Amino acid sequence: MGKKLRIAILYNEPLGSGADERQFISETGKLQVEPARTGSRSRRRKTTLAAPQVPVDLSEVGVLQEMEDIRSALSTLGYAPTIFNVNGEAFRLIDYLRSEQPDLIFNLVESVENDAVQEMNVAGLYDLLKIPYTGAGPLALGTALQKSRVKEILASHGIRTPRHQEFQPSMRVVLSEGLQFPLIVKPAHEDGSVGVHDASVVSSMSELRKRVRFIFEEFEQPALVEQYIEGRELNVAVLGWRSPVVFPISEIDFSGMGEGMHHIVSYEAKWLQGTVAYDGTRGVCPAQVTPAQEAEMKESALRCFQLVGCRDYARVDFRMTADGEIYVLEVNPNPDISDDAGFARSARAYGLTFSETVGKIVESALERTRGIG
Ligand SMILES: Nc1ncnc2c1ncn2[C@@H]1O[C@H](COP(=O)(O)OP(=O)(O)O)[C@@H](O)[C@H]1O
Ligand SMILES: [Mg+2]
Repeated sequence: MGKKLRIAILYNEPLGSGADERQFISETGKLQVEPARTGSRSRRRKTTLAAPQVPVDLSEVGVLQEMEDIRSALSTLGYAPTIFNVNGEAFRLIDYLRSEQPDLIFNLVESVENDAVQEMNVAGLYDLLKIPYTGAGPLALGTALQKSRVKEILASHGIRTPRHQEFQPSMRVVLSEGLQFPLIVKPAHEDGSVGVHDASVVSSMSELRKRVRFIFEEFEQPALVEQYIEGRELNVAVLGWRSPVVFPISEIDFSGMGEGMHHIVSYEAKWLQGTVAYDGTRGVCPAQVTPAQEAEMKESALRCFQLVGCRDYARVDFRMTADGEIYVLEVNPNPDISDDAGFARSARAYGLTFSETVGKIVESALERTRGIG
């Protein structure tokens, strides 16, 4: 038998949320919780957003559990995995890669010191060092981070996305023609529903101004204002590189949400276990859609994958109105693949276990080391 392929799983340990505990993976692979180190804080200021009964914020745990699951999947698949936490010390990363000499990097790095822009620079470093890695390259990662740019690229190729307008902190909040209430206000460069709450959906100029100000103050970045698309929310997972495949469509079922709450995947719905929004939303796969709607979304997802320059795996999120009008909300290169997330749900419906999915992502990335890249 040949030498086992060495795969380095690179991730960034989330900086503490400022909550009173810290989660980590122990040597035995179990998720542990310990009191917070003093001084830990997050740019996201999650603690100011939590409901009073202190629900559990799963966003900090997510990446650690995902990384551990991937490590055990890679071992099962016969690879030799190692794990490295990428922090702000770039030379430490270079030293690690020089001494470890991995055959492939499983890239889970999403930000460095809470700066999401560094995500693309880390991928750029892998390119400079000529080490193959899973997922999107720097150009695609940087593009996807600019939500408005992505929407403009898609729109110029005839793919429908909600109308939008971006506000910089120095701008007066005056709506451009064609935008009508209700609208939704989001940070322009975040993901994982950060900054998205029930109050993000606004129905008047005063609510809009308040929400735009909230984004500037809380996130120090532009505010993206979009036409609010009332309706269903669907996710399409794509896997592969040159000839990617599309998995069965997944849907977020909002029927358990409280009266009067907007049917959106808010921060609470996505991460805050113990809130009405979290308990009231459920992922379903496959979604009940007509063959024509299914074909439209799958084709559109593949186009989005290609236009943004995704590789190996991605998830495209859609909204669909009661009339069956379909809008792309966003394109996620390197999406969360952990077991309870939309990507894994669709992969399961396609017939792949978690380990098999991880294996396919690795094979897709390795294809680039063999063919013309
Ligand atoms: N234009 C919109 N219309 C309706 N719902 C939206 C719209 N934009 C965002 N949402 C809701 O907010 C959630 C998070 O927004 P999204 O743009 O996907 O940001 P993130 O990158 O943080 O996931 C979506 O999953 C959806 O439920
Ligand atoms: Mg999203």
